[in-house]
Order: sequence, then structure tokens, then C-alpha cells
Amino acid sequence: MKFFADTAEIKDIRELAEAGLLDGVTTNPSLIKKSGRDFIETVTEIASVVAGPVSAEVVAIEHDAMMNEAERLRKIADNIVIKVPLTPAGLKTCKALTSDGTMVNVTLCFSANQALLAAKAGASFISPFVGRLDDIGQPGMELISDIRLIYDNYDFATEILVASVRNSIHVLDAAKLGADVMTAPPAVIWSLFKHPLTDAGLASFLKDWESTGQKIV
Ligand code: E4P
Repeated sequence: MKFFADTAEIKDIRELAEAGLLDGVTTNPSLIKKSGRDFIETVTEIASVVAGPVSAEVVAIEHDAMMNEAERLRKIADNIVIKVPLTPAGLKTCKALTSDGTMVNVTLCFSANQALLAAKAGASFISPFVGRLDDIGQPGMELISDIRLIYDNYDFATEILVASVRNSIHVLDAAKLGADVMTAPPAVIWSLFKHPLTDAGLASFLKDWESTGQKIV
């Protein structure tokens, strides 16, 4: 499963990339607002640091205006993925862009039927938001399982990009269900390292080593 970082913070992106834990980045208007930085400048910088796909979201809601914004965004770099909302205009834009060889991430997916529509429109990625479904008492991971089944039934090439990931259990479940990608805040990715037995084992090894009085170099 590929790991994307769901952030617009360049420092966090660099740290994950240096650790070999980063296959791509997703941004959205709220993350850009949180960064306090200029959108185009930020996405340009991210796309230069990350070799993999970097999602940049349009904010227009009509097809023609979405296409204009996509034109601007896709000029930034070859690894830019245009992110469009799961609306009729968004899917029309998806169809036009993917037919032209541009990668598209269809966002704000909350049902399996919506994911089916996105695949039919040729989406490169579908982003089902598991955390926001959990928030309203609907099991987000059931949606991932349904989409996996449907996409496999028909050999759709659209990659399932599990979004709105809030914790390590979401990551584990996404991997068990065969999701292609998950995007998570950097803190969630780093939390995957955590295990009390790792910490305790390391402390014990270091204590014993120190008592030998030896040095490796
Ligand atoms: C996905 O691309 C979105 O940017 C993101 O995962 C939304 O997550 P949130 O529900 O935590 O805002």
C-alpha cells in the first residue's frame, strides 16, 4: 500500500520523504489555509520535493472554470494530480483531463455508487473519506471493502486512496482490505512506529551494552 501525506507542511513532507515513507502528497483547500501559505507556491515546492503524485484541488464548481484551474495547476509539474469533487461537473472534468493524460483524484466520496461513477469517468484515484463517515456513525472501512469488491469485479484501474485517515487502526484496516493508497496526517504515519515492547526492548539492550564497556566505533 502506498503512503501519501495529507498535509501542505513542507517540513513534515521532507522528513517523511527522507525516511523513505512517502509515495505522494494530498492537499486540500483547508490544509492550504492551515499552512498560511500561497497555494501555487506551496504545491510547486511540494511537487519538487516529492517524486510521486501530488494532489492539488480545484475550487471552481462549474466544468469550464474547473478546466481553467486544472490547466494552471497541471502546468506546475508532471506529478501534479488534479483533485476534483464528486459532482457531475467534477466527473465531467475528470473525464476530460484523464482522456488527455492528466492524473485525477476524485475527492469527497462517501458511497460505493459514487466510487463506481468515478471509476467510469476514468479517475486515477478515488478518495473515500473514512474518518468523516465514522464521525457520523457510519463505518468508513465498510465503504473501502465495498469499493474494493466493485473495482475488482470489473477490473477498474482506479486506485482506492483511503482518505480522512485519523489513526493507526485506519491504516491497518486499509492495508488488510487491499486499498492501493492511504493518505494520512504525518503524525498518524509516525505513530505506526509505536510499540511499548520496542521501546522496552531497546532500553534493555542499551543498558546491557553499556555495562559491557565496549564500543563499536
Ligand atoms: C483527502 O484528500 C483529504 O485531504 C483528507 O483526507 C480529509 O481528511 P479530514 O477528514 O481529516 O479533513
